[in-house]
Amino acid sequence: MEDTFDKMQSQIDRLTETISSIMKFSQSSTVSRERINLNQIAQDVLLWMRPLSKYIPVDLIIDSNEIILSVDRIQISQVLVNLLKNAIEATELLPSDQQKNVELKIFINGNEAVCEVTNYHSYISPNDISELFHPFVSSKKGNTGIGLSIVKQIVEMHQGSIDVKSDQEKTVFTVKLPLYSQSN
Ligand SMILES: Nc1ncnc2c1ncn2[C@@H]1O[C@H](COP(=O)(O)OP(=O)(O)OP(=O)(O)O)[C@@H](O)[C@H]1O
Ligand SMILES: [Mg+2]
Repeated sequence: MEDTFDKMQSQIDRLTETISSIMKFSQSSTVSRERINLNQIAQDVLLWMRPLSKYIPVDLIIDSNEIILSVDRIQISQVLVNLLKNAIEATELLPSDQQKNVELKIFINGNEAVCEVTNYHSYISPNDISELFHPFVSSKKGNTGIGLSIVKQIVEMHQGSIDVKSDQEKTVFTVKLPLYSQSN
C-alpha cells in the first residue's frame, strides 16, 4: 500500500516538474505581434466558445469601433478564452434561480484597452484571490488550475496588467493592455 502511495507521489512529482518546465518554456516564448482590432479578437473568441456558452450567454459590450493593439493574436485570444471559461464554469455552479450570464466589456481608457470579464454571485475571498494566479490552484474537480497563471504570463509579456475584484454581487477580472503606438 505504502509502495503504491510512494509510486503515485513520485509520479506526481515528475508531472509537476514536467509542467513547470513547460511553463518556463512558455514564459520565454516570443510574442509574435501584429496590429489588430481587439474587438475583432473578442468576436472571434465568442464564436469559438459558442458550444461552451450555449447555456450561459456571454454578452459582449463594445463602446468603440476600433481598439487597435500590437499583440500576439493567439495569446490574447487565449487570455479571453481562459477568463471567459472561468466565468462560465463559476456561473454553471449557481442555483437555478440566480442570474446566469457572463459579460465581456471592452473599452478604451486613456492610452489603454480595457477588457472586463464579469460573472455574478461567485464570491472569491481575499485569501483565495492572493493565490489565484499561482499554477495548480483550483477549486474544481478535474481541472489543472493553470488557466489564470497562463493569463498572467501572457498579459505581462504584453506590458499589460490584470486585476480581480470580487464581492457578493459579482466578480470582475480586468485586463489592461497598451494601445498600439509607433513604439510597440
Ligand atoms: N470568474 C471566476 N469566478 C469565481 N471563481 C473563479 C473565477 N475565475 C477563477 N476562479 C477561481 O480560481 C481558480 C483558479 O482558476 P484557473 O483558471 O487558474 O484554474 P481552473 O479554472 O481551476 O483550471 P484550468 O483553468 O486549468 O482549467 C478556479 O478554480 C476558481 O476557484
Ligand atoms: Mg480556468
